[in-house]
Amino acid sequence: MISLAGCGKEEIVTNVGELEFTQALKIPPLAEPNIESDGTKNYTLTMQQGTTELLPGKMADTFGINGTYLGPTIRVSRGDKVSFNVVNNLGETSTLHWHGMRLPAVMDGGPHQMIEAGDTWTPHWTIDQPSATTWYHPHLHGKTAHHVYKGLAGMFIIDDEDSKKLPSNYGVDDIPLIIQDKLFTSDGQMKEDKEGIFGTLGDEILVNGTYDPYLEVTSSQVRFRLLNGSNARAYHFGFTDGRSFKLVANDVGLLQVPVSMERIMLSPGERAEIVVDFKPGEETILHSFNGNNGIDNGEFDLLKIVAAPDLKESAPIDGQLSSVPLIEVPENATVRQFKLTMENKINDKLMDMYRIDEIVPAGTTEIWEINNFGWSHNFHIHNAAFRILDINDKEPQEYERGRKDTVFVPNGSKVRLVVEFGDYSDPNVPYMYHCHLLRHEDDGMMGQFLLVEPGTESQVPTTLPKNENDHHE
Ligand code: C2O
Ligand code: CU
Ligand code: CU
Repeated sequence: MISLAGCGKEEIVTNVGELEFTQALKIPPLAEPNIESDGTKNYTLTMQQGTTELLPGKMADTFGINGTYLGPTIRVSRGDKVSFNVVNNLGETSTLHWHGMRLPAVMDGGPHQMIEAGDTWTPHWTIDQPSATTWYHPHLHGKTAHHVYKGLAGMFIIDDEDSKKLPSNYGVDDIPLIIQDKLFTSDGQMKEDKEGIFGTLGDEILVNGTYDPYLEVTSSQVRFRLLNGSNARAYHFGFTDGRSFKLVANDVGLLQVPVSMERIMLSPGERAEIVVDFKPGEETILHSFNGNNGIDNGEFDLLKIVAAPDLKESAPIDGQLSSVPLIEVPENATVRQFKLTMENKINDKLMDMYRIDEIVPAGTTEIWEINNFGWSHNFHIHNAAFRILDINDKEPQEYERGRKDTVFVPNGSKVRLVVEFGDYSDPNVPYMYHCHLLRHEDDGMMGQFLLVEPGTESQVPTTLPKNENDHHE
């Protein structure tokens, strides 16, 4: 049981009763690629400063991508070749990371792929992973919390033959929901909490940058892609009328079969795809219920959903969803242990940009055991997909058996993951694993791993050369 430092009692933060649901939910536009001669989809993403009316009638200083707050949704299919011009017009250094993506380390957009103010970064890769709701956001070491909070984030959807059987009409029956909590000053500027244990925990909610949102739906089944894009807050999603929904996907892949449920918890960085049934003319409110892990302390109305008087009948979605087999534990799997502590350390160490913490043979599957000895944390691994093997030695629930890249690790618990790593190897450029509470990550709750050609593990150096052109803190 965690109580927040400095306040003797558990206060429930809430917006319940304050909203009137007067603003139509904003749907991030789909990014339009230029198609190059070899078929590559080329996107330009410009990171910029701006001002945005986050609270009605008040302007806030924000960051955005091709706009003033958040970024466009990128939507591609498995097998597509993609390339990006990431233009940094922020006036300060940043990076752009593809969270949930399988790609070479130099394209990952982590803390080593810095984009100086005024520069353009041009990563490219082939989409080679099952359908997923992934996302992109900056990852500059020490600044991730600030850059994401200011508005730099967007959704990145991957389709495949399996996922296309689900409602897929973007903005109609396939709705992105980027959930972010905020603290505001009285004149409507966003405020960051630099003192709290977890960083900023807001008392107001934006969905896709919309305050006080409602959405009208027009079909009998709607797929919602929930992305917890908050710095620290976890949500227990459900509906105020208690209706159930079908969970169809975890972070990076469809479930084998849909799971009917009434609540799902997502910690920062996690995603879930749910399909909800509607009857003509009815209304409900997507809600976050109170929890007792510190980061989920609070109760929020998120989005009012109103069903049109006439609804288009959707095809039923029961039966097999994913054709991708579950990630299996190989014989003699390597086991690595990670200890999370109160000082925001992993295995008693803070992040060091020049230290390699783990060397993993590319393309292998390992068991990673995460033990949390302090506060609430979660754990995210780049360029990997994992299945939860057990939580405190107990089998995971049916709804948490899909492909994931981020997992909540409650205080005092042990979570074992079976982690499938990507095939790309690079002896010089690391990928990251870290707590996705962005304050913790910025404070150094992050480690670096290399994926190397199998058999060369002992030949690669465990320090990285200091480069004079790197501007590290
Ligand atoms: Cu969403 Cu390492 O990040
Ligand atoms: Cu990531
Ligand atoms: Cu943490």
